[in-house]
Amino acid sequence: MNHVILAAIDDLLGLERKMEKTLRRSILSGGGLSKEELEAVKRYEEGLQKTLDIIAPAGMEIKTDKILVNDLYARTLYAINWPNYIYPNWISEEVNYDAHMNISQFIYPADNKAILQLLRKKVTQIRSSIHMLEQRGIVRDPALEAALQDAEELRDLLTRGREKLFQMGLYLTIYSEDEDQLKKLQTDIESLLGGKLVITKPAFMQMEHGWISTMPFGIDELEVNRNMNTSPAAACFPFSSSDLTDDHGILYGINRHNDSLVIFDRFDLPNANAAVFATSGAGKSFAVKLEMLRSLMFDTDMYVIDPENEYRELCEKVNGTYIPISLESSNHVNPFDLPKAVRGDEASVGETLRAAVINLHGLFKLMLGSLTPAEDGILDKAILDTYALKDITLATENPLEKEVPTMRDLIDVLLSTDGGENMARTLSKYTDGSYAGLFDQQTNVNIDNQMVVFQIRDLEELLRPIAMYVVINLIWNRIRADFKKRMLVIDEAWSLIQHEDSARFLYGLIKRARKYYLGVTTITQDVEDFVNSPYGKPIITNTSFQILLKQSPSAIDNLQKIFYLTEGEKYLLLGSEIGQGLFFAGNRHVAIQVIASPQEASIITTRPEDIAAKKGTKKPEEPKAHAESILKSADVITPAEETKGTEETKGTEETEETKATEETKATEDFGGAISKVPSVPSVPSVTSVASVASVPSPAPSPTAAPDDIDNSIILRQATPPPDTEEKS
Ligand SMILES: Nc1ncnc2c1ncn2[C@@H]1O[C@H](COP(=O)(O)OP(=O)(O)OP(=O)(O)O)[C@@H](O)[C@H]1O
Ligand SMILES: [Mg+2]
Repeated sequence: MNHVILAAIDDLLGLERKMEKTLRRSILSGGGLSKEELEAVKRYEEGLQKTLDIIAPAGMEIKTDKILVNDLYARTLYAINWPNYIYPNWISEEVNYDAHMNISQFIYPADNKAILQLLRKKVTQIRSSIHMLEQRGIVRDPALEAALQDAEELRDLLTRGREKLFQMGLYLTIYSEDEDQLKKLQTDIESLLGGKLVITKPAFMQMEHGWISTMPFGIDELEVNRNMNTSPAAACFPFSSSDLTDDHGILYGINRHNDSLVIFDRFDLPNANAAVFATSGAGKSFAVKLEMLRSLMFDTDMYVIDPENEYRELCEKVNGTYIPISLESSNHVNPFDLPKAVRGDEASVGETLRAAVINLHGLFKLMLGSLTPAEDGILDKAILDTYALKDITLATENPLEKEVPTMRDLIDVLLSTDGGENMARTLSKYTDGSYAGLFDQQTNVNIDNQMVVFQIRDLEELLRPIAMYVVINLIWNRIRADFKKRMLVIDEAWSLIQHEDSARFLYGLIKRARKYYLGVTTITQDVEDFVNSPYGKPIITNTSFQILLKQSPSAIDNLQKIFYLTEGEKYLLLGSEIGQGLFFAGNRHVAIQVIASPQEASIITTRPEDIAAKKGTKKPEEPKAHAESILKSADVITPAEETKGTEETKGTEETEETKATEETKATEDFGGAISKVPSVPSVPSVTSVASVASVPSPAPSPTAAPDDIDNSIILRQATPPPDTEEKS
């Protein structure tokens, strides 16, 4: 059997003996080789590299209590005693134990008939013992009664065929690089198993047999077996199920281990925060947008900080509020805002203001750069004084009803304070200088909608963390006002992590989010930033749900350390395709493929080809007109007609385009340029729909065009139109 396995491995590795086969064939076909030639062939065969040569150790020393394989010590243990009861998957702890070891189980079916006879004999013996005791006046012996009951139960089950009898052997070979470690590992494993009443012994004098028995050959050379019926034998099945399927929640994708659906509600986890890590283009934003789209159906409010202008289409499709924040836009957010209402501890007098002052302090430190301890104190007092100008103090009963100050007021206060002039001068950049207009006026944006997207793409790199800070603060104020299920998505969160003050702010938010029924999703390309920030690790610790998609080789080692990835998980991430990765939900790990329906994909894609293709269907150009004329003559529905008739969503895109504002200009230009390429319009977009259509659509949208229409276009397009047929 061994050589069959090895030959199969040889074939797989491409080490198959092609030459040998050719020679054999020539002999069989009567080519006839001389004795010398056969000798040469034999020598040639011996010289071939075989799997065995690669995997065999250079040497082995077999001792009574261990084996030395190269420079690795190995010791085999076998189970001699089992408890009366074992629970399913009891062995998972040993399987997942962080040590180098091989575990093998041998299960032999036993002959029921012989066992039944044996049991009958046993039952008769026990009964007569009980009878004798009764005659001697001893009322009852619980041990005997229990044994009788067990034997009778087993007899019943065996006779009815509900259970079968097996013999089971469990062997473990542990490995270590030094003897002391091996001894320690043995003690650990023995106590781990002993805790479950599975008693083991080392295979003294039989180490080689033990070692072979735990190799993947299926050879039991120890033969230390114990009787076991079906249920406990089944409970020894060593694979822990890594399912992530709940009866409620949203669909995230397909489990790559067993093709089951990954459905769960992240609000069921200890906290609803999520962290997403992957390289650029691996599908981070895609996965999060899909989650958002599906969560909207369950009445969850969404807030998004969008640094790339990629949530716009999604936002408009669901009638969300889209707020571009830039120096040119007329949207203003006042960082001095106080929450409209607060609940719990923060509702007490002074507490709302105190919390606001702490947040503002962090913000101004971000704006000002480093501060001396003296300046720090001055700033703190100046913020309080600024509020006091508007009659808001720590003693104010109801500060929320008053008008709040703006940055100009703070600058005035700083100018009139000793030591505050420098800070005032720096901050005046935000009121009179190049950054004026954004944060120095009363808030004029309304965020009362199920989805609100803040787009900060057009902001300078330097202003981004500041804008994120201010916007998150605005959202945080809104969240504290009433109790509702909400999600906050911070895409490209690295720009917050890289500054200590904003990282601390984000950490504080993530830590407190749970109490406000909020799930914060942070999306990051760069693992380095997280590792290097003192707040990176704590942020990850405070997220129960983590999505890891494709990783670059440079980032994987850091990630492995942070998430305690196994080697297998590490290589899975390195080799992942777009949309593939790992989901960690609490303690459960699952390899997943994120899958969107074609309709969902068309709303959330950021791939330039897809966007260009979508635009292509809107603006017919020469090549498309040609394609359409072919389709028309084939008497099928053209994509254009189909759009008019069935897909209401597409109809709105025309108006969207005419509405296009400055914010989308760059993408529009990009799309426009691409749509001039002749091969882009209509047909490729149809093919892309068809190729995805074979995947079961998890959440079909009611307005969606049926997939079979798209398919029919392709199919019929391939057959020549009837009139051309006649002509030919
Ligand atoms: N699960 C998926 N199924 C199908 N296509 C996908 C999937 N995930 C991603 N894609 C495609 O890949 C494109 C890029 O994905 P996405 O925008 O999510 O990248 P990203 O990881 O956010 O990159 P970046 O860090 O540059 O923003 C998507 O627009 C989409 O077309
Ligand atoms: Mg992205």
